[in-house]
Amino acid sequence: MDELAIYPGSFDPLTSGHLDIVHRAVDIFPKLIVAVAVNVRKLPTFTLEERVEMIKDSLAGVDRVEIDSFSGLLVDYAKRRKARVIVRGLRALSDFENEFQMAHMNRRLSPNLETIFMMTSQEHFYVSSQTVKEVAFFNGDVSGIVPAPVLKKLTTRGTSKDGLEN
Ligand code: PNS
Repeated sequence: MDELAIYPGSFDPLTSGHLDIVHRAVDIFPKLIVAVAVNVRKLPTFTLEERVEMIKDSLAGVDRVEIDSFSGLLVDYAKRRKARVIVRGLRALSDFENEFQMAHMNRRLSPNLETIFMMTSQEHFYVSSQTVKEVAFFNGDVSGIVPAPVLKKLTTRGTSKDGLEN
């Protein structure tokens, strides 16, 4: 495929499941933008700068990936970046309804923008930013389910109780 693709998300923080999607998407698309949203619907645990920095550190040396951030509508960002493809990961059935709504709303707002879903690999099915933060908050072991730079950040900084409620 010769399309520029955008992989948007809160990435609060990046997990090994996200990383799996990045690597697989880069195998398909010539360039991938990992776009961190300034998400007005969620109060993030990590600041935008921290989330971007953790992704940059985790993807150091991976070619054809750009890390960026955006506020406002994803469709407007995609237009600005001249991208026609959005990549999203799907884990369990529970992701489906929200993803289905978002994809349809985005298509309504921008008919030429296509959302492509990639099934999360089996070993990452149960991994989410939320569960990672909860386990880390109670000092549980999250090594192996987050990239090393995220593990470092989680262990040095911890997570606030507020962040767990997102
Ligand atoms: O990692 P997340 O929280 O599931 O990512 C959701 C995200 C950031 C992709 C979504 O909330 C988004 O696109 N936000 C930007 C605002 C927007 O365009 N909202 C309309 C989507 S229906």
